[in-house]
Amino acid sequence: MLEKKMLTKRFGIVNPLSIKDYIDNGGYISLRKALTMEKITIIDEIENSKLRGRGGAGFPVHIKMLSLAKEVSDVKYLVNNADEGEPGNFKDRALLENDPHLTIEGMIISAYASGATKGYIYIRGEYNRAISIMKWAVDQARDMGYLGENILDSGFDFDIEVRTGAGAYVVGEEFALLESIEGKAGRTRVKPPFPTERGLFGKPTLINNVETFCNLPFIIEMSGKSFAKIGTPSSTGTKLISLSGNINNPGVYEVPFGVTLRDVIDTLGGGVPESRKLKMVQLGGACGPIIPEFMLDLKIDYDRFEDFESKTGAGAIIVMDDRHNLFEVLLRIVEFFGHESCGKCTPCREGHIQLEYLVKKFLYNESTPKDLFSLESLARVMHQTSLCGLGQSSPISLISTLGYFRDEYHNRIEFAGKE
Ligand SMILES: Cc1cc2nc3c(=O)[nH]c(=O)nc-3n(C[C@H](O)[C@H](O)[C@H](O)COP(=O)(O)O)c2cc1C
Ligand code: SF4
Repeated sequence: MLEKKMLTKRFGIVNPLSIKDYIDNGGYISLRKALTMEKITIIDEIENSKLRGRGGAGFPVHIKMLSLAKEVSDVKYLVNNADEGEPGNFKDRALLENDPHLTIEGMIISAYASGATKGYIYIRGEYNRAISIMKWAVDQARDMGYLGENILDSGFDFDIEVRTGAGAYVVGEEFALLESIEGKAGRTRVKPPFPTERGLFGKPTLINNVETFCNLPFIIEMSGKSFAKIGTPSSTGTKLISLSGNINNPGVYEVPFGVTLRDVIDTLGGGVPESRKLKMVQLGGACGPIIPEFMLDLKIDYDRFEDFESKTGAGAIIVMDDRHNLFEVLLRIVEFFGHESCGKCTPCREGHIQLEYLVKKFLYNESTPKDLFSLESLARVMHQTSLCGLGQSSPISLISTLGYFRDEYHNRIEFAGKE
């Protein structure tokens, strides 16, 4: 069995609008257990689990949680990042729409361990169904005593508010998201200080992804050490994969870390339709590397993905068959990020305009050897000097193709002006 349904095990079994269904299927048992544990023991269990964040960067979860727990403040915040603006990703939507209480339960456990008293779930505005379901689920949880004052007679107070975004990609970035909750334009802040030191409204704040929170009830249930046996030594647990593009069975699949891309594409996804040839695959979303077919035996694992200068923990796999023109794909990506750039820093604001100009020259067979040099150096400068992850990661697709598909660049230069 390639799939391992843990976070998705209740999909289709529980009615997402019924907290009773969730409870009847084992829901909120981990929270009850957590409330009897020492807070530091919970954080130790999460450390033992080696859980890493599922929002993209793969940062160890217990480190941020411990940082928040150590902060002394009258109020500490917890934020669930459900912005999911990265093209090609739709796994958080699946979690919110099919099993809304799982991420809520994870948030309450995290808040209890780290001392947060107020939580936000920030959902992208386009996810209407998920927004309604989450609002409904939060109200139900409060009515049943899982949220609010003195949760389950434990003396612990914590409540959650659902907030919605207005559709900017950059607002998924943690500081931009906090600015947005504060009612300002979604623009990043300079780090440090990090959110756990000075976050929402200047107070210590812990931000994790929807899927990250969903793992916490399972760690409490089975122990961190048992959880760490799933997956690979550096990437424990399961990963939800958003599989899309030229694929027979697109959708969300939950697999243990360590399965190969080929397993996901061919066995779960049923391969490329109409017996066409697979040309390339983009990992992680629009900001991820584009790799050729011969690399599909790569294992899904944080460390392996980081070999590509990429942090692709969000888990999108976008399959493209042999009808795709590489430069059309790159142009769409560059246009997208240019449009989404908030304009705060020069490398990203000006860089995307120049990248678009250069990619168009390759697309329209007007490129020269100097354009290749300019494209390469500009992409690297943007990657290294942009202020936030948008400008740092948007050139990754292009940089990866300069390695894996370099022949296509040379062919374009050779045929420039000859058509
Ligand atoms: C431009 C940009 C967009 C991002 N979008 C998202 C997003 O939609 N969802 C998400 O969970 N993290 C997103 N992130 C990562 C967050 O900044 C942050 O690292 C994450 O929410 C932390 O959660 P985790 O540790 O559980 O992964 C984005 C980062 C950048 C730079
Ligand atoms: S990298 Fe882009 S999105 Fe990020 S701060 Fe700079 S201009 Fe704004």
